[in-house]
Amino acid sequence: MNLLEKFSLRIAEEIRRLDIKGSPAELYEPVEYVLSIGGKRIRPALVLLGCDLFNGETERALPPALGIEVFHNFTLLHDDIMDNAPIRRSKPTVHEKWSINTAILSGDAMFVKAYQLVSQVEDSVLRPVLDLFSRTALDMNFEGRENVSIAEYERMIELKTAVLLGTSLKIGALVAKASGKEAGLLYDFGRNLGIAFQLQDDLLDVYGDKAFGKQTGGDIIAGKKTYLLLKALELAEGENQRQLNRLLSRTEGISDSEKVTGVTAIFDELDIAGHAREEMRLYFDKAMDSLERISVSPEKKKGLGDFAEQLMERKI
Ligand code: IPE
Ligand code: MG
Ligand code: MG
Repeated sequence: MNLLEKFSLRIAEEIRRLDIKGSPAELYEPVEYVLSIGGKRIRPALVLLGCDLFNGETERALPPALGIEVFHNFTLLHDDIMDNAPIRRSKPTVHEKWSINTAILSGDAMFVKAYQLVSQVEDSVLRPVLDLFSRTALDMNFEGRENVSIAEYERMIELKTAVLLGTSLKIGALVAKASGKEAGLLYDFGRNLGIAFQLQDDLLDVYGDKAFGKQTGGDIIAGKKTYLLLKALELAEGENQRQLNRLLSRTEGISDSEKVTGVTAIFDELDIAGHAREEMRLYFDKAMDSLERISVSPEKKKGLGDFAEQLMERKI
């Protein structure tokens, strides 16, 4: 069993044991539901990997690792309400299964639980851990505006996704008492990896198969200005451009599936997936540069490097 598999087992075990009591009884069930469905558990794995990188005691990093996973799931509950998303992880979303109010309140309970868990670190690192976590939580609390440029879009995904990956790793590093410089490099690794990760997420939203577990083309239906769409708007000319604008206009009676099929066809023609993969590669390489600069032996970094590579190939 490699390190990642070992960490994944520990995380799964601790999530099962998580006691969410303390939140009102009618909220246990949805919280348990969402935490038991699974997900890749990337963020808690990053906390443990970040801690291990600096030879910290990973058992001590478990409570904040769980806290970050609970926090992540809280953001998903609220995000799915905001996006009107019917399924996630191949299951009905909480607001679909129960109600919007239940999903809001369960999310709130998880937010508090997340803070409780993240706070369970040694006193000597509590302040920097909480400062970092709070700053990240505030940064993420920023839903996309109708942004116009690709640069603005990338800034947006940095805030909504990438900072939490960087923070996960850095919390692990803080628990292991790494130096500020090393912890900062690890944060940058996670931040750049996170941007690549979200670009991949955008790609999977259109090109993912059933296993991805979300409504195919959900972003297209919602009219989200993702990298894919912005790049298509930049590259489309003539008939493609006319057609794209027609499909995106809200006024005409175009069905959701027509929209998804039509926009996807234009993406294909313009090789938008290829462009997105190139962009991902750019951020992935930046991430790897930061990782290389960390003063730890290459063998010790291998687990994290391999994990990052796996994420770039993910299908779910
Ligand atoms: C999905 O995150 C939402 C984003 C912020 C990109 P994940 O892809 O980590 O979702 P799960 O937890 O594995 O389902
Ligand atoms: Mg959203
Ligand atoms: Mg969403």
